[in-house]
Amino acid sequence: MNTQQLKKEDSTRRTFAIISHPDAGKTTITEQLLLFGGVVRTAGTVKGRKTGNFAKSDWMEIEQKRGISVTSSVMQFDYGGKRINILDTPGHEDFSEDTYRTLMAVDSAVMVIDSAKGIEPQTKKLFQICKMRGIPIFTFMNKLDRDGRDPMDLIDELESVLGVQAYPMNWPIGMGKTLDGIFDRYNHQVELYSHEHDQDSTIVKLDDDNNPIDAPDLAENDQFQATKDSIDLLDMAGNPFDEAKIATGDLTPVFFGSALVNFGVKTFFDAYLKYAPAPSAHKTEEGNVVEPDADRFSGFVFKIQANMNPNHRDRIAFVRVCSGEFEKGMDVNLFRTKKKLRLSNVTEFMANTRENVKTAVAGDIIGLYDTGNFQIGDTIYTGKAPVEFEKLPQFTPELFVRVSAKNVMKQKSFHKGIDQLVQEGAIQLYTSYTTNDYILGAVGQLQFEVFQFRMQNEYNSEVNMESLGHKIARWIDPDQLDEKMSSSRNLLVKDRAGNPLFLFENEFALRWFKDKYPDVQLTAKL
Ligand code: G4P
Repeated sequence: MNTQQLKKEDSTRRTFAIISHPDAGKTTITEQLLLFGGVVRTAGTVKGRKTGNFAKSDWMEIEQKRGISVTSSVMQFDYGGKRINILDTPGHEDFSEDTYRTLMAVDSAVMVIDSAKGIEPQTKKLFQICKMRGIPIFTFMNKLDRDGRDPMDLIDELESVLGVQAYPMNWPIGMGKTLDGIFDRYNHQVELYSHEHDQDSTIVKLDDDNNPIDAPDLAENDQFQATKDSIDLLDMAGNPFDEAKIATGDLTPVFFGSALVNFGVKTFFDAYLKYAPAPSAHKTEEGNVVEPDADRFSGFVFKIQANMNPNHRDRIAFVRVCSGEFEKGMDVNLFRTKKKLRLSNVTEFMANTRENVKTAVAGDIIGLYDTGNFQIGDTIYTGKAPVEFEKLPQFTPELFVRVSAKNVMKQKSFHKGIDQLVQEGAIQLYTSYTTNDYILGAVGQLQFEVFQFRMQNEYNSEVNMESLGHKIARWIDPDQLDEKMSSSRNLLVKDRAGNPLFLFENEFALRWFKDKYPDVQLTAKL
């Protein structure tokens, strides 16, 4: 591809994640989008928990048993002249490290909120990560077919709890049993809701005074009049529509609708695709930026996942392409090891075709079959000058367990399993300073369960895990360390790189330590 073609291709890519608190409707809305893209033909094929057909991304047994999606996966399809990459993020509150990293690989996010519940804890956490990255966030207030909270309240809460400005793109006309439709401010029309499920919604155009054209029933509808009043209020006192603020994530366009009955989802998606950004430049550790249409190919590994087929021991490294063009069989450099690698064994995530995609450009995600070459955060690139993208954020673990092999004769598989799972970033490993015990750290309990399950299934190693509970991890400068500082309230351990840190029992133990050793510098992250 020449630069012109590359620019054109790049401009069609939309790469995003859907974030939400569990049960807000992320799976249901994802499924509707896949329907629009022609990936699935009927609703329920992706999810269908009741029928026992599990979501495409729920490949691991543990996920199936618990009915949750533990690992993120990627869905790619074409829609409306764009190539869409949806990066699935697990909504379970226990398992967030993977989610955080996935959010580093997207250009925008869709936040799904249950309109009966408003902002829930996980929504807030995930929102903050997106905000930190300064990416556009679009809000879908879901479940309008049910009685929910007052829309004005929901907008107020969104603004005050998340600290973001909101611009309602549409406004509900009634709700639940009395839902009549949505007032679409953006397209200046009303989309009428039919309570008969399989009927398409009807569009009514509005005149300059927001009165329906050729729709006397609607004009006389009390709920419509009330909505009109709300619109007047929003026009007068609400935030103005501001594309620049959307682009920086300071203003979130809000859409009301119902994923389950597919109402307002298409209107939302069409508007979303108009304002969602194409892939942008990526910063390097050195402080330079790599433009998406640069000649040279580059990308970074944001996730490593064990092969979905347990008979194959290899793993898949998920790479977000940042620039240039990926071609199957190409040679790339791996920054960390300075090794040259041939990318011949590649999987793509194009959901609506069986054809192998041979090329990928900025914004696309490719899956590389990996036999142990890659680590999370790795940069790969072509050309002479080295490229290293900014480091992915590390999350300080809060929960810890002591781990050992159940069968002492099987030390080899135990160590191999731990090594690989730690490299994948599935879990953090520490060793105790004095006894050399293995201690695992995680952000959520579920990470341990996944670890235990995978050790047994993939490495045939049963493990004992003894919970150490919540701890506060603080690194200490090795020069200031005196082993006598360790007590029953602070466990002294080493991280993988050999750096010492204390695991404090609680805030009190941490304060006590600081009082006792006022000159010692402790840091929360390394
Ligand atoms: P999640 O991925 O965010 O966890 O949510 P998911 O889509 O699984 O939706 C959670 C529940 O909410 C599901 O019901 C789903 O059918 C329902 N739901 C999603 N969107 C809407 C909507 O627009 N309106 C209404 N009324 N319900 C919605 P469930 O009974 O828990 O699951 P299932 O047994 O139906 O699969």
